Amino acid sequence: ELGYFTFDPGFVATASCRSSITYLDGDKGILEYRGYPIEQLAESSTFTEVCYLLLHGELPNKDDLSKFDHTITTHTMLHEAMKRFYSGFRRDAHPMSTMVGVVGALSSFYHHGEDIHDPEHRKITAHRLIAKMPTIAAWSYRYANGQPMVYPKNSLDYSSNFLHMMFSMPTEEYTPDPLYVKALDLLLILHADHEQNASTSTVRLAGSSGANPFAALSAGIASLWGPAHGGANEAVIRMLQDIVDSDNDVAHYVARAKDKSDRFRLMGFGHRVYKNFDPRAVIIRKTCMDLLAKLGPDNEYQALFDTAHELEKIALADDYFVKRNLYPNVDFYSGIILLAMGIPLNMFTVIFAMARTVGWISQWNEMIADDDFRIGRPRQLYTGANTRDYVDIENR
Ligand code: SDX
Repeated sequence: ELGYFTFDPGFVATASCRSSITYLDGDKGILEYRGYPIEQLAESSTFTEVCYLLLHGELPNKDDLSKFDHTITTHTMLHEAMKRFYSGFRRDAHPMSTMVGVVGALSSFYHHGEDIHDPEHRKITAHRLIAKMPTIAAWSYRYANGQPMVYPKNSLDYSSNFLHMMFSMPTEEYTPDPLYVKALDLLLILHADHEQNASTSTVRLAGSSGANPFAALSAGIASLWGPAHGGANEAVIRMLQDIVDSDNDVAHYVARAKDKSDRFRLMGFGHRVYKNFDPRAVIIRKTCMDLLAKLGPDNEYQALFDTAHELEKIALADDYFVKRNLYPNVDFYSGIILLAMGIPLNMFTVIFAMARTVGWISQWNEMIADDDFRIGRPRQLYTGANTRDYVDIENR
């Protein structure tokens, strides 16, 4: 009764759940959080205001937002013993491996997540996760670079605090550039939630067994890491850099992406739901253009952007991509903005996870709050051997 979709190859898939959080229309390129169009939220809201909206269902008034911001700001610290977790990783560990490990371990420090049926405990857990993810993320970067962990500052807003923890040094204070703070806050808004994508579905399925929310989110982070999902932003930059460095022109790579014998795909292109422009990609492309314009024509990222823009133009004029409804997605231009802020490639998906934390925990909360929720149990189409008798090893 949840609604059925029939699609090739002719089998029926069922809607995995009911949700009132995010609405997508892939054909029209519509994305709404709790009914508010993403374009309006991108234009007028802040990330912590969007967190409140996704968690509680309504935009906060000034007093609600002030209290929410205070709660988030005053829970950005990690238990001091968690610092030792990082030293257990190799310095060259991908920061996403650290995120999977440290977030999963939060349940051993913050026990509010254990009583998942207590709404107050769920709210406290949601606030702690949103508050602590920037610290966990920045510390994974600092550890990988052999730099001292930098503590959060209560005087800074969410995005400024993250950049402070990423780049401040004991020898020199880092003053976040308002240009980058605004761009980061926008990227966090655009990545906050996206209906039942692979990582959110992972969080729901893991959480449906009654596992604590920290463990469920750790599973979601693992799913997001893949290059077909959240890892695509990192893969896009590697692809663009290869094109810029190679003697081949952009058309050569577009041709490779069409060649079935070649595993190469245009990273940042295509989407399971959007069969039109990903509305987030439209906003991010403009933000990227504006940011690079402010950096001046000789900025070191212009070649990447120009290559991406040319790829987009050639692909969208090519029947292969048009017939398959392949358009740029959220990952196509976002990495160029992160690079311009000085964020290294291996932190791109970590920032995606930082943003999506509010979506994951809001969707988890919606599931647990539903008294009818039951453990998820997907079924399969069996394609194995028919029933047969056991054969002793001597007779095989
Ligand atoms: C995210 O689900 C979400 O909401 C995810 C996300 C979120 O916010 O949570 O939006 C974030 O994950 C965005 C997607 C990031 N991934 C990439 O950019 C990786 C590159 N894209 C593809 O791998 C692919 O487009 C997917 C994974 C995004 C979607 O894959 P689908 O829907 O399973 O599409 P498909 O693989 O069935 O492809 C359909 C056809 C195939 O050709 P035919 O078999 O019809 O001949 O399109 C082709 C594919 O070969 N195709 C591509 C392509 N993507 C699909 N060809 C070249 N380049 C591509 N990028």
